Amino acid sequence: MITPRTLPATARAAIAAFTAQFGTTPTWLIRAPGRVNLIGEHTDYNDGFVLPLAIDRAVWIALRPRDDARVNVFAVDKAERGTIDLRHFARGGPSWLEYLRGSAWALAESGAALVGWDGAMAGDVPLGAGLSSSAAVELATLRALTTTSQLPWSPATMATLGQRAENRWVGVNCGIMDQMISAAGEADHALLIDCRSLALTSVPLPAGYVVVVMDTGTRRGLVDSAYNERRHQCEAAARHFGVTALRDITEATFGTQADALDPLTRRRARHVITENARTVAAAERLRAGDAAAVGALMDASHQSLRDDFEVSSPALNQIVEIARRQPGCVGARMTGAGFGGCAVALVEAAAASAFTARVDAEYRASTSWTPSLYVTTAQAGASAHGLGGLPAAHP
Ligand code: GLA
Repeated sequence: MITPRTLPATARAAIAAFTAQFGTTPTWLIRAPGRVNLIGEHTDYNDGFVLPLAIDRAVWIALRPRDDARVNVFAVDKAERGTIDLRHFARGGPSWLEYLRGSAWALAESGAALVGWDGAMAGDVPLGAGLSSSAAVELATLRALTTTSQLPWSPATMATLGQRAENRWVGVNCGIMDQMISAAGEADHALLIDCRSLALTSVPLPAGYVVVVMDTGTRRGLVDSAYNERRHQCEAAARHFGVTALRDITEATFGTQADALDPLTRRRARHVITENARTVAAAERLRAGDAAAVGALMDASHQSLRDDFEVSSPALNQIVEIARRQPGCVGARMTGAGFGGCAVALVEAAAASAFTARVDAEYRASTSWTPSLYVTTAQAGASAHGLGGLPAAHP
């Protein structure tokens, strides 16, 4: 059981909003985190490897189960209420509600009998910043529904349902990374995810170093069309090599068989193939505590995303360049889909506060954007906490 005193402000806001909206106290508190990806970008939809961690920013839902198949949810940030009928799924109402409705739809479609709830939702994962706010909403919804419906919680199954909600209900063609890390994250660890088998290997973060999220203050535009275009280019390259996905091509095979590809597709494929190799190497170097080697792989990842995959942006390049000049920073790169949003840096813990202050100042002085930098810890994946009245959920 958790006590309100130990809760972050966002969780307390969800509890207070619940009481104000529904005139009673909530019995459960649900949390699902955002994520930052250390390395392994645009590899998940190529059946490849990613190495994200769940961050200490999350979506929280304070709720009380209902005895019918209705979900009433108040979104604190929007000051707006939405309703979902769990027996009859039809779009309608505020657009943020579709992430919740799509998740409920995917769970219902898998054959589950669903019990509704009244809830208040609050979050501090910035929207559109590349930190997976939508996956956090999806996994929080799934964790809420499995709690009220007394269904088992399997992170990989739930991640797949969250991805299905996003692909089929919301209409965004994302891979599995964001949902998987929000579902399965582990405290103090990054997770090496094999996006083909969904096998997870937890990798401890190196002692004496911290992960810094660097929000450029820019938000991605036209990202969906560019993302889908990259996916198609990767699929075309896989067809050229006669494999299911680029995951199946080694750097050696690429070296001997890439000449026949047109130059653009060749560069796209080269990013994915080298990024997969870098990601597996980074997990191995992290395990060995070799932060400098991990940093070098992060730098190479950024260059590849910038030059070969072409999903970076002037703001991302600028913040990464500034970060790399600072003492104690061993590596930095854009993170997430790209075109804006956040970058990530690996920094010596002792240098972290000077690092964030200097990057903030230099970025403000050299651009017209307002950054936001913070050190994040790695957190556990989605969780349900009894607030009294009901037995505590399994972790
Ligand atoms: C977005 C998608 C993920 C992944 C990344 C790029 O975050 O949701 O599935 O493809 O972009 O690595």
